[in-house]
Amino acid sequence: MDNLETNLFVDKLSASFEITKDDMKEMLANFHDEMKRGLADQASSLKMLPAFVDIATSKEKGKYIALDLGGTNFRVLQIELDGRGGAKVAHVSKFVIPKALMRGTGVQLFNFVAKSIHKFLIDNKIGLNKKRNLGFTFSFPVNQTNISTGILINWTKGFTAKGVVGSNVMKLLTDSIRKFGMEKVKVVALANDTVGTLATGSYRDPRCDIGIIFGTGTNACYRERIGNIKKLDIKSKKNQHMIVNIEWGNFNKIPTTEYDLRLDKATNNPGKQRMEKMISGMYLGEIARLILANMIKYKLIFKNSKAKFAKGEFKTRHLSFVTSDHTEQLDKIHGYLEGLGILNTTFEERELLKNICKIVSKRAARISAAAISAVITWMDPKLRSDHTIAIDGTVYKRLPDFRRIILGELKELHKSKAKKIKLVHTKDGSGIGVAIAAAVATS
Ligand code: GLC
Repeated sequence: MDNLETNLFVDKLSASFEITKDDMKEMLANFHDEMKRGLADQASSLKMLPAFVDIATSKEKGKYIALDLGGTNFRVLQIELDGRGGAKVAHVSKFVIPKALMRGTGVQLFNFVAKSIHKFLIDNKIGLNKKRNLGFTFSFPVNQTNISTGILINWTKGFTAKGVVGSNVMKLLTDSIRKFGMEKVKVVALANDTVGTLATGSYRDPRCDIGIIFGTGTNACYRERIGNIKKLDIKSKKNQHMIVNIEWGNFNKIPTTEYDLRLDKATNNPGKQRMEKMISGMYLGEIARLILANMIKYKLIFKNSKAKFAKGEFKTRHLSFVTSDHTEQLDKIHGYLEGLGILNTTFEERELLKNICKIVSKRAARISAAAISAVITWMDPKLRSDHTIAIDGTVYKRLPDFRRIILGELKELHKSKAKKIKLVHTKDGSGIGVAIAAAVATS
C-alpha cells in the first residue's frame, strides 16, 4: 500500500468532514432563522410542529398503555405514574416490524400494531374487559391541531407505508384496534418520541426544557411560549407554554461531502432529512461504508482482499464496535474483519478503519452540539437559566465519545456558562412520556 497516497486521501477526507468554528457559527445563525420561519409557517427546513402539550408537572398519575412506533422495533408498555415524579414500566413487549410492513400499506402496518397490542394485553394478563387509556408515540412528523389528532406530513427513516401520509394516524390506529375487538381501549394522546422524552425528563426535573433523540433518526423538541408560535392563533394563551417538535433531522444548511450526496441519492427520501443523514444510526455506518468502498476501489485499504462492503453491510453498530476497540493490536477489529472474510490485515489498516469511523462520528457529534446550542440560545440567548436536556437513543448510548465530544463543543461555544447545560440520559422516555401526555389529556 502506498502510504503517501493513503495519507493524502485521509487528509482530504478529514478536511471535508471538518466542521470549523465558522461553519458552526453559520449553522447556528441559519438554525435560528429556520426556526423563526417554521414558527411563522413560512418555507423552512424546520417544521416546528406544535405538540399541544406542555412539560410535565410531576402530578400526572395513573396506569396507561403506551405504544412506541418509530424505528425498527415497535413496543407496547404499561406505565404507572405515581403523581410524585416517579414512573414505572410495569410491562413491556417488543415486536420487530417486518421490512415488508414498513413499506406495505398503512392498514397492514396498523393491523400489525393492533395485533401486537392484543397479544400484549393477553400475555401480561391485563385483559380486554376494563377501560384502558392509551398514548401513542408516533415518531414521524405530524401536524396536530390537538393532543389526540395527527396528520402524517411525510415518512422518514425508511418507512413508506402507503395511504398514511395526509391521514389522521390516530384514526387509523383506532380503526385497527376496533377490528381486533379491543372495544375498551381508548387512544387518547399522540406524541413524538422527543416530546415523550422531554415530558419524562421534566416529570423528574422541572428545569428540563429540551428533549432529544439520537437513535435510528434524530430530532429535538423544546418548550416555547405560545405567543412565539406565530402560526398558532391562540391569543388568549400567548403567555402559556407548549412543546414544539422541531423535526431538526430535516435541517439542510450544513456543509456536505460527496459521500453525503451519494448516500442521500440512494435513499427513498432524497433531499430530505439531510442533518439526520449525517448524525443518526440509520446512516452513520453507511457513510463510513461509502468511504471504505471508495478506498477499496483505489486500493488504499484491504488491498489483498476481495472485500466489497456492499450497501448496508457496515452498520452503525459496527462503527461503534470498531471505534471502541482499545486493544493494543486492535484485535477486536481484526476478529470482526476476519468474520467478513478480510484476512491478514495489518495493524495500519485496522487503525485506518478506526480513523475513518472516528472522522464520521466526530462530525456527527459536532453537528449535534451546534444544533443543541442553537436551540438553547433560541430559548435563552445569554444562557441565564439552567437547562436540563433529556436525551435517548442508541447513538447517544452506544457511540463511543459521542457524548464527550458534544460536551466539549458546548464548552467551547459557551465557555463557563456551559455548566448550566446538563445532558441526562432519559431511558424509556418515549413510553413514559406519552403516558404523561395521556394523563394530561384525560384529566
Ligand atoms: C425522525 C422523525 C422524527 C423522530 C426522529 C427520532 O427524524 O422524523 O419525528 O423524532 O426520527 O426518532
